[in-house]
Amino acid sequence: MKIAIIGSGLIGQSWAMIFAGAGHTVTLYDIVSEQVSKALETIATNLKNYESQGCLRGQLTASRQVSLITGSSDMQECLNGASYVQECVPESVDLKRQVFNQMDMYITEDMIVASSSSCLGVSQFVGEMKNKHRTLVAHPVNPPYFVPLVEIVPGPWTLPEVSQQTRTLLESVGQAPVTLSKECPGFALNRIQYSIINECWCMYKDGLLSAADIDKLMVNGLGPRYAFIGPLETMHLNADGIVDYCKRYAQGAYNVSSTLTPPPIMYDIPTAENVQSELSSAVPLEQLLERRKWRDRHLAALASLKNQLKEK
Ligand code: NAI
Repeated sequence: MKIAIIGSGLIGQSWAMIFAGAGHTVTLYDIVSEQVSKALETIATNLKNYESQGCLRGQLTASRQVSLITGSSDMQECLNGASYVQECVPESVDLKRQVFNQMDMYITEDMIVASSSSCLGVSQFVGEMKNKHRTLVAHPVNPPYFVPLVEIVPGPWTLPEVSQQTRTLLESVGQAPVTLSKECPGFALNRIQYSIINECWCMYKDGLLSAADIDKLMVNGLGPRYAFIGPLETMHLNADGIVDYCKRYAQGAYNVSSTLTPPPIMYDIPTAENVQSELSSAVPLEQLLERRKWRDRHLAALASLKNQLKEK
């Protein structure tokens, strides 16, 4: 199957590696043609590194995967013959509207066009398109090569089979899609993520815990548990089923939840500076790149462990 990627930055490159890992041919397009060559070089380096580190996805060698990915500086050529298109241009309504309108004339009746948008629903930028029924959001989580979740978010006019075929395709390439029934602010993942960040921010501001201890709480408490079972199954297992859990703990949970405050505004720079000064004593700003690589290595190891456990 031919996959077209529109926008060859961080996320476009990740999608290209994911689809090539499953044996699909991929064409990358970018408005900046030098960016396409840079992206192809970065992809080749990454795939070779992943191969030597034992975390390359799929059955093909890195060089075979690299050979499946080509670049183009022409949108029509990129889209021609593609069954699935993943748009990865920056998060701006105007830019996405312009790119989707430009793609419209090349969309065929068997093509699906997905946006990687982090928070904009397709309804915000495909309104005038003839082929809007073939568009939807497929929102990955960074770094998508090692974190498999993808949120599929249909617009009001997306055909049900377009959502279903996207889900099937993403599962077949090793991602873990979830499907929302409709658009909502933040989709699902960021609604949960923001509620966690908001409470962390409030606890820090109240002086309840240090920044390091807040992060430790997730890394050593909720994080390990949630790597294997979600919050609903946690409730199910922590009592004799979720109904029993609700009978035993709902009132206590409600009492605590009623003390949660409205969301803080994080444009509170003095607090942000305090958190940053604490975080920087462990990870100075000039070491962020190294630390991101460390994070990706650990996520790769976790992904590999989870695959091994699945096979047993
Ligand atoms: P990026 O800035 O790394 O890459 C965007 C690319 O799009 C650039 O190479 C740019 O030259 C190209 N571009 C700009 N205008 C274009 C046009 N008219 N036609 C074709 N290409 C064009 O951005 P990134 O981080 O890859 O984000 C892409 C999308 O993915 C955004 O919607 C973002 O919200 C979403 N996303 C980003 C995540 C992240 O952690 N970076 C995570 C999940 C989703």
